[in-house]
Parts: sequence; structure tokens; C-alpha cells
Amino acid sequence: MKTAIVYESTHHGNTKKLCDAIAQKFDVQLFDINDNVPSLDEYDFIGIASGISFGKFYKNILEKTSEFLPENKKVFFIFTAGSPRESHADAVKKIAELKNCKCLGSYFCKGFDTYGPFKIMGGINKNCPTEDDLKKVLEFYEKITQA
Ligand SMILES: Cc1cc2nc3c(=O)[nH]c(=O)nc-3n(C[C@H](O)[C@H](O)[C@H](O)COP(=O)(O)O)c2cc1C
Repeated sequence: MKTAIVYESTHHGNTKKLCDAIAQKFDVQLFDINDNVPSLDEYDFIGIASGISFGKFYKNILEKTSEFLPENKKVFFIFTAGSPRESHADAVKKIAELKNCKCLGSYFCKGFDTYGPFKIMGGINKNCPTEDDLKKVLEFYEKITQA
């Protein structure tokens, strides 16, 4: 079983912390969307991970998902946001479904956010993702890949 996670985590590296936690414990290859993403044909599971901007995964990773994601893969989503909610993955999920991929679920949690007015107050969710979030994303990964 081979897993790749393609991520974009440009605001504070919040989402990358979740990806790094998975890659430290499991045999998972991480690819930054801003580097060259190789062919992912050989991977069985593909994670797509991002911070949230205006209610969706970042524009760059959304646009490139249809290029890097092969058809018929098992996919999962990881994201952090100021106020995360399940629907933040709707747009990326739609792209994956158009590729006949099987969507296994999402893990999301709060991330440090200094966007707009939050900057003046020093940001919100200062210690997020927390140690507990890092533990929970491992449980999520284990559950979806061993189902
Ligand atoms: C331009 C911009 C727009 C954002 N829009 C949202 C949003 O619509 N909803 C939300 O909950 N958080 C929003 N955020 C907060 C980020 O999603 C949050 O800080 C996230 O953890 C950043 O992840 P990253 O550090 O991995 O890039 C926004 C942040 C930025 C910089």
C-alpha cells in the first residue's frame, strides 16, 4: 500500500504540521504543490491537504488537483481553517469525484489564523493545530487506510 499527500500550507504551515505528523509515523510521501508533483499513478491512497481561503481549499491546489490526481484512486482530505467545517472540502471532493476517485473522508481542525482583522488582535487559534489534533489525524489516517 503506497500513500502520497499533496499539500499547500502557505499561511502558517498549519496544515503541513498535520501532514508531517502522518509522514513521521507512516510510510507516506509528501509533495508540496508549489514544487514539482511527480506522477502519482503508483500510489493507492492520495491525500489532498490545504488551508482554507474563502471557504475552499486554496485556489492553486484546487486548480492543480485535476492535473495531478489520477483516476480511480482512494482519496482523503486534510485541512485547517480559522473556523473549519466539513463543507470546506466540497469543492475538492467534487473534483476528485469527477476523476472517479473514492472519497474516504476528511480530517480538519482549527489552525492559527492572522488573516485580515485577526492580524490586529495577534491572530486566533494561537496554538493550533494542538498536540491532540496531531494525535487525532494519525487515528484518522490509520482508520481510513485500514478499513
Ligand atoms: C486569504 C485567507 C483567507 C482565509 N479564509 C478563510 C475562510 O474562508 N474560512 C476560514 O475558516 N479560515 C480562513 N482562513 C484561515 C486559514 O484557513 C487558516 O489560518 C489555516 O489554518 C491556514 O492553513 P495553512 O497555515 O496550512 O496555510 C483564511 C486565511 C487566509 C490567509
